[in-house]
Amino acid sequence: MLAILIAAALAEPPPAEAPAVTDWGFEDHLAPLTLRDGEPLHIASDRCADCHAQQHADWAASRHRSAWTNDVFQTGYLVEQKDFCVYCHAPLAEQTAEVLANRDWYTAQHPRINAPLPDKLPEPHAAEGVSCATCHWRNGRLVGPGNGTGAAHPVASDPSLQESSFCAGCHEFYMPEGHGGVISFTDVPMQHTFTEWQNWSAQTGEERTCQSCHMPDGRHVFRGAHDVTFLRSSVSVDAWRAGGAVVFCLESVDVGHHLPTGDLFRHLTLEVRDADGWHTIHRIGRLFALVLDPETGEISKQLSADTSLRPGEPVEVITSSASAWRLRYHYASAEDEVRGLLPRDALIVTLLEGVLEEE
Ligand code: HEC
Ligand code: HEC
Ligand code: HEC
Ligand code: HEC
Ligand code: HEC
Repeated sequence: MLAILIAAALAEPPPAEAPAVTDWGFEDHLAPLTLRDGEPLHIASDRCADCHAQQHADWAASRHRSAWTNDVFQTGYLVEQKDFCVYCHAPLAEQTAEVLANRDWYTAQHPRINAPLPDKLPEPHAAEGVSCATCHWRNGRLVGPGNGTGAAHPVASDPSLQESSFCAGCHEFYMPEGHGGVISFTDVPMQHTFTEWQNWSAQTGEERTCQSCHMPDGRHVFRGAHDVTFLRSSVSVDAWRAGGAVVFCLESVDVGHHLPTGDLFRHLTLEVRDADGWHTIHRIGRLFALVLDPETGEISKQLSADTSLRPGEPVEVITSSASAWRLRYHYASAEDEVRGLLPRDALIVTLLEGVLEEE
């Protein structure tokens, strides 16, 4: 397998002039990603493992690897089955084809439908999620940030891999809307991590990129909200009694965008315990409302509130009585927690907690 890959790559005549900036092709989200004009191509990431063991091991444990298979995504997709989800979570043409071949199976699995299930065809390509080839293979060549010195294969050099704009292709996109079966995107962001990062960078003069924080030393860990140690260190809570009240001060710590960012359902809750048990006194994150356009009769999702923590902007929350507090992170929506496709424990993690001494 390795020999075939290398031989095929070597047999490829180098393009007359390597393009200065690769057309990554991520921006579209309305069609699967084809890596060579019209030609289906999938390179299994295992083929890179022998020579790039560290990158492979890091990636294999990352959320990019499980972007199609992880439970939080799979249950989200069962509730909202849209082709454009596949174009990002299993983006290559061969991956998408496998999933679309199972369309009936997914439809039958829809939580509201109770039908006998047809057999599901295997999805070995889709199971690779965001693979090595997705980020590194274009126009029949491996693309790397350097000049390929010492590489066992031809390398097209593109330093733009090291810029935040490279990640933006998938980490910045808008709400879709459908007109007569044709999908287009509105101007309401579904994820706007790249814009949040640009604002942070402009305000602070920081030059750190997505890669600096999520791929430290080039490590392919893509650590994020599913790395609970990393998540825990990204927020601080101070709590004290003042007069008859309890005051909380919440702040994000060294986060180059909002907390939470990314998926629209992510949120945090600040909860206190009193004689009646635990209560949420503050929700951190975005909320959306379905809005009807009286002229066109169309319903769209609009942002109705955004209490995400901004970098460098502490937030104070005051409550009347409490004996203990906790800050919890929620990977999905409150509806998902009630819907019960996944156990609550899989959707909620307590980040910080404390006891308030009596005065
Ligand atoms: C989500 C996109 C993405 C995926 C998936 C990905 N890489 Fe990378 N890779 C990058 C970026 C970005 C860099 C540049 C990192 C830097 O220099 O800060 C990079 C750099 C590299 C380098 C150069 C040396 C180094 O480690 O910096 C190698 C080799 C490499 N990747 C191999 C792989 C292999 C093998 C896989 C699959 C197991 C893989 N990559 C998956 C984005 C990705
Ligand atoms: C037979 C061994 C071998 C295989 C297989 C192999 N590589 Fe490499 N590759 C190398 C060596 C050696 C280098 C140069 C040293 C380094 O950067 O790690 C390299 C360099 C790279 C670079 C960095 C180029 C640069 O200068 O920026 C990338 C990216 C890369 N490989 C990706 C891949 C991916 C993705 C695969 C699987 C599709 C793969 N390689 C398969 C040996 C291999
Ligand atoms: C200064 C460091 C820093 C920079 C720069 C940064 N991040 Fe993050 N990121 C974090 C920290 C810390 C967390 C964990 C806290 C959280 O979940 O927000 C995180 C979490 C995330 C998460 C998952 C958690 C969530 O809230 O959904 C994603 C996705 C993410 N970052 C993507 C990006 C992208 C894309 C960029 C560049 C456009 C970027 N980050 C730039 C530090 C950084
Ligand atoms: C081809 C699309 C694509 C590209 C390019 C891409 N990502 Fe992602 N990324 C995803 C998807 C899809 C997920 C969600 C996986 C899941 O279901 O949890 C994700 C998840 C993440 C997470 C969240 C991990 C967590 O624990 O919450 C981080 C961090 C992240 N990506 C960083 C990056 C960085 C940094 C880059 C650029 C070097 C990048 N991504 C490029 C598609 C992409
Ligand atoms: C343009 C790319 C893109 C599209 C389209 C997309 N996603 Fe995602 N999705 C991401 C990225 C990037 C993340 C990681 C953000 C984060 O960690 O908060 C993510 C995260 C998620 C998560 C959280 C997974 C986890 O590990 O916690 C779920 C669930 C999810 N997406 C479901 C969907 C569904 C359902 C659709 C279609 C309706 C969809 N996505 C469409 C890029 C995309």
